[in-house]
Amino acid sequence: MTVSLAPAGTQSVPIYVLGADEVALWAGQQSDRVRTWVDATAFKGGIGAVLMIPDEAGHPEKVLVGYGTPATRKRDRFALAAALPKLAPGTYHIECGIDDDQIEQETLGWLLASYSFGRYQSSTTEHPTLVAPAGTDAARITALAEAEFLTRDLINTPASDMGPEELESAARALADKHDARISVITGDALLTANFPMIHTVGRASDRSPRLIDMSWGNRGPKLTLVGKGVCFDTGGLNIKPGSSMGLMKKDMGGAANVLGLAHMIMAYGLDVRLRVLIPAVENAISGNSFRPQDILTSRKGLTVEINNTDAEGRLVLADALTLGSEDGPDLIVSMATLTGAARVAVGPDLAPYYTDDDVAATSLDLSARRMADPVWRMPFHDPYESMIEPGIADLDNAPKGGFAGSITAALFLRRFVNESDRYIHFDIYGWQPTAAPGRPKGGALQGARALFDALPVILDL
Ligand code: BES
Ligand code: MN
Ligand code: ZN
Repeated sequence: MTVSLAPAGTQSVPIYVLGADEVALWAGQQSDRVRTWVDATAFKGGIGAVLMIPDEAGHPEKVLVGYGTPATRKRDRFALAAALPKLAPGTYHIECGIDDDQIEQETLGWLLASYSFGRYQSSTTEHPTLVAPAGTDAARITALAEAEFLTRDLINTPASDMGPEELESAARALADKHDARISVITGDALLTANFPMIHTVGRASDRSPRLIDMSWGNRGPKLTLVGKGVCFDTGGLNIKPGSSMGLMKKDMGGAANVLGLAHMIMAYGLDVRLRVLIPAVENAISGNSFRPQDILTSRKGLTVEINNTDAEGRLVLADALTLGSEDGPDLIVSMATLTGAARVAVGPDLAPYYTDDDVAATSLDLSARRMADPVWRMPFHDPYESMIEPGIADLDNAPKGGFAGSITAALFLRRFVNESDRYIHFDIYGWQPTAAPGRPKGGALQGARALFDALPVILDL
């Protein structure tokens, strides 16, 4: 699917964006013909309301789009995008009504609303096109939308067509597009290369586990992204009930998000040395599945007692994080659909993240608002460290009791980077459960756009 804004000057229909309190005033300033038309309709300027005004020959002359009130806008993102389903195909430009500090967001929202997952459908829908508004960076907004489309496509693709091998192919395609380097360690080679936990989690599937390692750029600070690539999570021998397993094709959402973020970074040409690590596995069940009470030795040498084979994400991420920290990166970021507890805490909309770095947290929070990509800081609460220490091994992958499940998972991951590393961990949901403007039901990018915007500040680029 291609994403694009029309260049300035393209023949297009003007859109007047009107807040609920602006409709009467605007209509009062129009010709009798236009005022009569507006008065005759139910157009009140609510979010998602659209009124086409025809010229004398019946062709579209202008379109009014409702912008609601500050209070109704606060309740969701992308107010302009709410109009898209009601606009006829064609090319439009924004004549007035959106403040400068909102125009990038609303333009992005328009593009995001034009997404559809067409892989398994024969019919395609035609979407209206927007002329790049004056003063916006069309290349940047387009890169942001392309990234999100990539992330959504990867998550939406069912596990039957998105196993470890296909996830590798997707990473290779992205690397090709941006002239990045990529190498992959697959199957038993994971053992000789010392990634024991990635191998252990993935060995029961007949689709081989692997570690994808992509890098790009040769100047600037080193940024390493690690994404959970569990292509399907049955839970393993601690099998999930059907209701919990239903959505588990999305358990590679962290990988899909770091690939989306990598696309933004490479397309926009940020001055970083980027590395992307994705442990890609299927948590399947067979005679050689790993078991409860097995004790694994990680790449770092720390031993891990398995108390739940469904806490597999932290195991594969641990080995990848260890590798990531070995070459002294300036920042490590992990993204993962890691715990159900994160959902209980903040729901599907907010991307909870952990960091000990207050500078990073402050800029992330600001960027999240600017980029319409809400995040929420959670604590690496040191007093809970004892919860992940079982006694017989160094670490427990699934502490009993279930208190603070997202925090203990984050603390577990932190054990595998160096203490001096700057580290941010996102425990995302990666899924939009009900459609909202610009956000169709299905795979979702979360936190990646806020991060992209914050990186220049965090890394002092
Ligand atoms: N992939 C799941 C977490 C998940 C579940 C994310 C639902 C989003 C929605 C993860 O592998 C998992 O199963 N975690 C367990 C950990 C527990 C066994 C300690 C969980 O959260 O229940
Ligand atoms: Mn699991
Ligand atoms: Zn999982």
